[in-house]
Amino acid sequence: MSGRLVEELTRRAALAMREVFEVDADPEVRPTNDPRFGDYQINGVLPLARRIGGNPRQLATRLLEGLDLGDMCLPPEIAGPGFINLRLDPFWVAREAGRVASDPRANISPVQAPQCVVVDFSSPNVAKRMHVGHLRSTIIGDALVRTLRFLGHRVVGDNHVGDWGTQFGILLWAWERHADQAALDADPIGELERLYKLGSEAAKADPQVADACRAELAALQAGDPERLALWKRFVAISRADAEAIYARLGVSFDTWHGESFYHERLAGVVERLCERGLARESEGAIAVFFDEDGDLGGTPLLVQKSDGAYLYATSDVATAEYRIETYAPDRIVYVVDVRQSLHFKQLFATLEALGYDQVRFEHVGFGMMLGADGRPFRTRDGGTVTLAALLEEAEERILPIVAEKWPDASEDEQRDIARRVGYGAVKYADLSQNLTTDYRFDWDKFLAAEGNTGPYLQYALVRIRSVLREYEVRVGRPFVADGAPLRLEADQERELATELLKLGDALDSAARLSRPHIVCEYLFGVARRFSPFYAACPILGAPDEGLRDSRVALAVATARTLEIGLDCLNIPLLDRM
Ligand code: ARG
Repeated sequence: MSGRLVEELTRRAALAMREVFEVDADPEVRPTNDPRFGDYQINGVLPLARRIGGNPRQLATRLLEGLDLGDMCLPPEIAGPGFINLRLDPFWVAREAGRVASDPRANISPVQAPQCVVVDFSSPNVAKRMHVGHLRSTIIGDALVRTLRFLGHRVVGDNHVGDWGTQFGILLWAWERHADQAALDADPIGELERLYKLGSEAAKADPQVADACRAELAALQAGDPERLALWKRFVAISRADAEAIYARLGVSFDTWHGESFYHERLAGVVERLCERGLARESEGAIAVFFDEDGDLGGTPLLVQKSDGAYLYATSDVATAEYRIETYAPDRIVYVVDVRQSLHFKQLFATLEALGYDQVRFEHVGFGMMLGADGRPFRTRDGGTVTLAALLEEAEERILPIVAEKWPDASEDEQRDIARRVGYGAVKYADLSQNLTTDYRFDWDKFLAAEGNTGPYLQYALVRIRSVLREYEVRVGRPFVADGAPLRLEADQERELATELLKLGDALDSAARLSRPHIVCEYLFGVARRFSPFYAACPILGAPDEGLRDSRVALAVATARTLEIGLDCLNIPLLDRM
């Protein structure tokens, strides 16, 4: 077993279909909605009947004769017009759950056919401090990278920073007029922000300044050495600021190719698009038009302005080509605000027209993070909230609770716990949302110890870890799971154990569909099933040693499941809280 139940059941059912009916068909194995009908069902017999003819119930009966699930399931039942209900065999569940306890990967093997996936995430436009608008791409992209990687895929996580755009024209203009070397040394990012603000206000008020900023940008992009040297400094300053945030979040990248990295390819991109008849001139500019495709909107994809400047889209075509040449990826995933969806639709259509149809391009668009009042997330005086401030607030809100609960811990330790809980809560809140809709940032809800929150899941794990410490004290040695089948006597034990076998499926769908909230929901389900087990089945006080060890192993398997899941989401773990 690969540790992916749906995959295994699908494999076996498809095999039976081939043997009995000599067809390749999707058996459509799904978890049941109602536990009275078992754990899974095979829904593919009805579509099969439509395809090959015949009475679906009779086909289902014949399929059962060829279906070998004896080790995994109780005898299957045919229901309704031709569904097949499957119930996992409790002995099989007991054996598999025992293996989850003893295996560091919870018995989930790496995928047999690993894919190469490029994940483009975080990707802020640099020159200013990172703000809350950069949170979602960073957190969601990181979770996808980690989940894909755990499953055995080859992943390239790329931070496609905007380091070549208009903001640098503005900065250069402002630097030439208002540079303050001492301020730049004392508070580099603060000084860049001051300059940027000066420059953009001036450009807004005066079209001549705006022109001068554009000229600065053009000179930079044309390779003027003095401007390039300044640009390098600016980029290094904002990179240092961003790195500090990534370090706090525990996020890292494999590559950090900004837009500037592709700059030499841009002329070639426009040329190729024109040669292939995909782009043409219009009012001095060059653009890809999608006249026939009403879906892509009447707006063309601009790749070169009339003044010769290249655009976001030009750089995205060049980036995709570089990635395809360099990594030969199966998928390229862009984790970017849903408001850019037209850009990505047009980009993907352009790339397909260029012949890159062996790659699955995917825009994982997410909604906005709003304030608790449903309005854009702002500081009290209407400014943007920096990510650093958001993370500090998370820590400060938790710290007094930790200090009260663990007065003997050193301040460092108290802070460490507060950060893990606070950052974990922020991340989990973001990841557990429905991806595409906006969500309201609500501290009380996200920090709550109950409900589908980061702290609730962290606490479930803390509780198990403390049982294990207690075991060690009482028995005199640490518990080591030996992989033996568990003794599942109570309903609560069986339900928990069954749930633990679904981690592989949850990770798999989250990675396939680019939906980390599937993992959140799954982990919440696990934690919710742990509580009744913990309440109903004394672990260390079990009536005999065999049952005690089985229950400890079940707790270990639960801990393992939570650890792997939370680690894929990059939620910090704790020993106490
Ligand atoms: N820098 C862009 C922004 O802040 C996001 C870049 C996303 N990645 C991409 N390949 N377009 O809007």
